Amino acid sequence: MARNFLSILDFTPAELRETIDLAIKVKTDRHLGPNAPTAQALARKHVGLLFEKPSLRTRVTFTIGVRELGGDIVEIPADVMHADREPLHDVARNLERWVDAAVIRTFGQDRLVEITEATPGLSVINALSNEEHPCQALADLQTLAEWWKGDLVGRRIAFVGDGNNVCTSLVHAAMMLGISMHVATPKEYALPDEVVDQAAEVSQHGAGLTEFTDPKAAVRDVDAVYTDVWTSMGQEVEYAERKRKFSRYQVNDALMSLAKPGALFMHCLPAHRGEEVTDEVIESPASVVFDQAENRLHAQKAMLVKILT
Ligand code: CP
Ligand code: NVA
Repeated sequence: MARNFLSILDFTPAELRETIDLAIKVKTDRHLGPNAPTAQALARKHVGLLFEKPSLRTRVTFTIGVRELGGDIVEIPADVMHADREPLHDVARNLERWVDAAVIRTFGQDRLVEITEATPGLSVINALSNEEHPCQALADLQTLAEWWKGDLVGRRIAFVGDGNNVCTSLVHAAMMLGISMHVATPKEYALPDEVVDQAAEVSQHGAGLTEFTDPKAAVRDVDAVYTDVWTSMGQEVEYAERKRKFSRYQVNDALMSLAKPGALFMHCLPAHRGEEVTDEVIESPASVVFDQAENRLHAQKAMLVKILT
């Protein structure tokens, strides 16, 4: 049975910690190039990339990451996924005969589950679905482990905005590493109940999830403030309505000033400056957004080593 990575919940808390530790090591070793200990980890392995939504960071970092691990990348155009061409499970069963892993960005998480059920020999990696973005959360927790020098347990992160895919995976990962989460959203955009239940199930070291509608109450005394776009890919028709409903959830200097002194600002990117975050905050010394982007490379290399070797 090949190992999949559809969700942070596919890892145990110990595996998540090991992956983040390995990501930090892979980053340090990168200058060794072909002499890095992981330089041949994916030798003779093929990884397919199949993206049904746009991507800068995920696409580029998986492409470079697989190559730096000695593996080969195959770009698969998204039009092969159209239902009028062939069923999704047939696409998957073909891929299973050629490649070791498929990195897939798609709409419903159920599409990823359908693929894994059809292909026990193929490792399926979630490169973002409507519901989860686990690769992002790996990089986010690596970034925090670096900035906080490994001192994660007992910290608090506020996520302000939409209770979306990025928020879900961040909650999963934070709970498993003993970090509490404050999630501030308009009521109708709260995290799904299922995610709230999962958070309680996987929590370690007494970490807790608290939901808020008031962003000010949520950021008080937290160690980091995280936000994401108000309108995710696939929700574009709701843009105007969401912009109106989320307007008081902007992360600006006034909101950041309520967090702990030295609190970090985080965003998965792409950011809509002037909407969910101001230019001042994203360009401030508190902002670690480009560390997060860089760490996508290292964290995904570590995850690939973990599930494919
Ligand atoms: N954060 C992130 O996943 O970026 P891309 O959509 O550019 O891949
Ligand atoms: N929530 C955003 C994240 C983009 C990386 C989206 O799904 O579009």
